[in-house]
Amino acid sequence: MVCLGNICRSPMAEGILKNKLKSSGIQIDSVGTAAYHTGESPDYRAIDTARRHNIDISGHIARQFKTSDFSNYDIIYVMDEYNYNDLLKLSGNAEERSKIKFITDVLHPGMKVAVPDPYYGGSESFELTYQVLNKSCDEIAAMLTNNYIKIRKG
Ligand code: 4NP
Repeated sequence: MVCLGNICRSPMAEGILKNKLKSSGIQIDSVGTAAYHTGESPDYRAIDTARRHNIDISGHIARQFKTSDFSNYDIIYVMDEYNYNDLLKLSGNAEERSKIKFITDVLHPGMKVAVPDPYYGGSESFELTYQVLNKSCDEIAAMLTNNYIKIRKG
């Protein structure tokens, strides 16, 4: 899960998907394209919003995307076109590029719909972002459960 700062959207997305795929063995992480907030906890508004939905993201520590993430992860979900373009620039080949997907693609295929950035908004912005991420993660969890986990179990 990739956003700009790794303190609002992507840690919420990580917490939501982890909650839906508990004990699946699938590794889920989140990062930022920028390093401004490296080492910080998520924004308190993101923590509060997730907590209202019984998800604890308070333990996440922000880090910046690194090119080894392209090999360490099978799918890289971005929140908006800035994240998408930043990762395209960092990618080294077609296989890496093919891993980068808009998280909302599962809801609006090919439309490149951004997850609203709540950083400059109020608590209702965080709730809206949560709802978009939650809907997307419902689809992603179903897709991974149907495909990935069955493949891994042979
Ligand atoms: P995020 O939100 O990318 O969802 O974590 C932001 C966090 C920090 C900033 C912008 C967006 N910032 O400009 O510091």
